[in-house]
Amino acid sequence: MSVVQITDLHKSFGDREVLTGIDLEVRQGEVVCVIGPSGSGKSTLLRCVNLLEQPTAGRIEVLGVDVTDPDVDIDRVRTHVGMVFQQFNLFVHRTVLDNCTMAQRQVLKRSRAEAERIARENLARVGLADRADSLPAQLSGGQQQRVAIARALSMDPQLMLFDEPTSALDPELVGDVLAVMRDLADAGMTMIVVTHEMAFARDVGDRVVFMDGGVVVEDGTADQVIGAPREARTRTFLQRVLDPTRTSGV
Ligand SMILES: Nc1ncnc2c1ncn2[C@@H]1O[C@H](COP(=O)(O)OP(=O)(O)OP(=O)(O)O)[C@@H](O)[C@H]1O
Ligand SMILES: [Mg+2]
Repeated sequence: MSVVQITDLHKSFGDREVLTGIDLEVRQGEVVCVIGPSGSGKSTLLRCVNLLEQPTAGRIEVLGVDVTDPDVDIDRVRTHVGMVFQQFNLFVHRTVLDNCTMAQRQVLKRSRAEAERIARENLARVGLADRADSLPAQLSGGQQQRVAIARALSMDPQLMLFDEPTSALDPELVGDVLAVMRDLADAGMTMIVVTHEMAFARDVGDRVVFMDGGVVVEDGTADQVIGAPREARTRTFLQRVLDPTRTSGV
């Protein structure tokens, strides 16, 4: 079953077209890692999937619903789609537990007791069972990002979108967040992950999509795209990200 089906997606900001005809299918249980240089349109692509950006043209189906249909009930679709950003977007004056229960109660109308039970399960899953009563500021960046993941999981998503979830973290905190994402992938979650972590993309990604200049340049298995890229543009990009002395501009 296809969870996301994108057909000839175009997106312009003003008269600047930043996505110029994207086709992408993500099937149930698949982990698709999206890589590519800064400005290539990775975040815009992800944001179009749950209409944080309105596509200019093309069609996007999410869980069988055409979200580009003007009559779509997008809130209903978003209920099934978890999103984790580089910035954690936690409510800073609310406890970890509150952060993980608010949307459950408001959107899914769960009782406080049920929402708290589910939140605690997910906090345990991300290794933070003992931090339910903390405020976000009392946690490290990596812990805050894991709260953001627990919050998203508490909504029982059928699709998780990650936009560079580890890019804002100190290097020593990246591993814990990636480990949680790897567990999620192993548990069968369908995921689209925009990342600069090539080892993660290679190990965890079922597929890797390389974007450049608003198009998908290469789409294949992780081993093929990262291990044996066919396109010159992919090779150039990988050389830059894999050689730390040449990372500027990526
Ligand atoms: N709201 C906006 N208004 C105008 N231009 C935008 C907007 N959002 C993105 N862009 C432009 O669209 C292009 C693609 O941006 P996008 O953020 O999708 O790239 P990206 O691949 O995610 O880059 P990065 O790796 O730096 O996050 C960029 O040139 C950017 O300046
Ligand atoms: Mg981005």
